Amino acid sequence: MELLDGKKVSDQIKDEIAAEVAQMVQRGEKVPHLAAVLVGNDGASLTYVGSKVRSCERIGFESTLVHLPDTTSEEELLEKIHELNMDDSIDGFIIQLPLPKQIDEQKVLMAVDPDKDVDGFHPTNFGRMALDMESFNPATPYGIMELLKRYGVVTEGKHAVIIGRSHIVGRPISILLSQKANPGNATVTLAHSRTKDLKALTLQADIIVSALGVPHFLKADMVKEGAAIIDVGITRVPDDSRERGYYIAGDVDFKAVSQKASYITPVPGGVGPMTIAMLLKNTLLARERHRSKK
Ligand code: GUN
Repeated sequence: MELLDGKKVSDQIKDEIAAEVAQMVQRGEKVPHLAAVLVGNDGASLTYVGSKVRSCERIGFESTLVHLPDTTSEEELLEKIHELNMDDSIDGFIIQLPLPKQIDEQKVLMAVDPDKDVDGFHPTNFGRMALDMESFNPATPYGIMELLKRYGVVTEGKHAVIIGRSHIVGRPISILLSQKANPGNATVTLAHSRTKDLKALTLQADIIVSALGVPHFLKADMVKEGAAIIDVGITRVPDDSRERGYYIAGDVDFKAVSQKASYITPVPGGVGPMTIAMLLKNTLLARERHRSKK
């Protein structure tokens, strides 16, 4: 079994980006600038956004955190998005999800300029990705593809079973794994809450991507010997014995499943850090596209 070490690979990617930024500075060019909009005070979102901003600082990007109260109206958020769309100093920005319930998520994501949509959530980018056109790929599925690529995990002709059809992980990874590319060229089954006999499917899978958010859901008896396992789950499970009051659990029963797997991602330290690295890569790309339009 080989561990797919997302922490290590994401550090490599960040170092590669930092080297590019250092060259920009040497040439006297403007460095990439990422903005993140956070509405409200959801604990996990605060952690993720903080980590995104710190990563920007570490590699030499400019970053701006726009933190709005949880009482923000849809109109106010749309106005802020309009400002960010118009702000020539900003190359890309993200709206951290989930949003408070008074705000229509779809309406908000539609308002982001597709050229600044480094999360790849705008229908234009999602559509472009589905049609094999240049786009911003959503960071988590993009990170999974990069991890598979850097470890040389063969996907061509393999059966990939994806658990979960979310817009930000399951659905897009089903598209990327089936695209005519390397990695890609997999035969994909997209399983979800209405799937019948999931175990019969996962037992056939050469690759399993679990993006469900149910701790320790995927057990060893659901996995074929030699399968590659990608765990996208990051659930906070209350635990009073820990100082922060919770621990982070993946979807996979790691101890038992790792005995059968050929490759497996740990949680934490697998897919999570890759998501941030790919967001930074998308921001670098947004800067290039922004400059080429001038
Ligand atoms: N919430 C959970 N994952 C993500 C992500 O990748 N981007 C944003 N903006 N919000 C999220």
